[in-house]
Amino acid sequence: MNSITSKIQELKKEKDAVILAHYYTEENVQALADHVGDSYYLSKIATKIPNRIIVFCGVSFMGESAKILNPEKTILMPDASADCPMAHMAKIKNIQSVKNKYKDLAVVCYINSTAEIKAYSDVCVTSSNALKIINKLPQKNIYFIPDANLGRYVARFIPDKNFIFSDGYCHVHTGITAEAVKRARNIHTDAKVLAHPECTWDVLTLADYVGSTSGIIEYATTHEGEFIICTEPGILYKLKQKNPNKVFHLVGKGKSCIDMKKITLQKVADTLEKMQHQVELDETLRQKAFYALANMLELAE
Ligand code: 13P
Ligand code: SF4
Repeated sequence: MNSITSKIQELKKEKDAVILAHYYTEENVQALADHVGDSYYLSKIATKIPNRIIVFCGVSFMGESAKILNPEKTILMPDASADCPMAHMAKIKNIQSVKNKYKDLAVVCYINSTAEIKAYSDVCVTSSNALKIINKLPQKNIYFIPDANLGRYVARFIPDKNFIFSDGYCHVHTGITAEAVKRARNIHTDAKVLAHPECTWDVLTLADYVGSTSGIIEYATTHEGEFIICTEPGILYKLKQKNPNKVFHLVGKGKSCIDMKKITLQKVADTLEKMQHQVELDETLRQKAFYALANMLELAE
């Protein structure tokens, strides 16, 4: 164990802390974490953890969600500036005007959103549970915010509902082009294409499997062959760890999520040592946002 890793292990013990990490963080961060997963798994596991402190190696909506669900815990963000641009793309004034226009409406909020946007929503979803949850909603009209690509993908499986979309997107996933996927497929003719639903529809139509980061890992682990991966490159660490003999091809230039990559081991040690970058939320806002996240956990079961 190198010195920074052993320092973090000591601090964890001393402070009663646990480390959660998303699949898009750097390899050494994932290797050190106690739990690594997709955004649904991480929000769920945060409610089951006995430790007093959670160090969240991910972007701010993830730490915020953990705090909304577990107000009694201290949530530490190794880099306070690590943020998902999509989390700010839904607009409260648009939510209000859609609510005024449609009576039988559910505001369905992708978890990649700020606490404020969650507070105006009926239920949160992630890419691993959106289909299941929306199918269970009694409302006919669904305002899906903010990711238009995920929303439109899910809507195709639920034709009996009327979807209204907003115009949010992920700059990493929309940077993966259908042309790049076709080029990869022409070279690796037997490989299966696995894509995250934040990709554009013309990429998703080329995919053999569409799913969350955990879904992609699960698919590659339970199927034989080579795989063309259409998501953020950080996922390769777990894919290769679980499947050392399989071959993975990353599409295009493998554009990274710069915010996820801001998390370093040094910052994990610093946040624990100095107890800095704690997630703080106004209690009224937290309670309003709790409703949508708690609904997600219940309906996803
Ligand atoms: P997952 O829920 O699939 O891990 O996705 C999170 C995310 O931010 C994708 O860009
Ligand atoms: Fe946000 Fe995209 Fe990064 Fe995911 S990959 S955290 S959606 S910017």
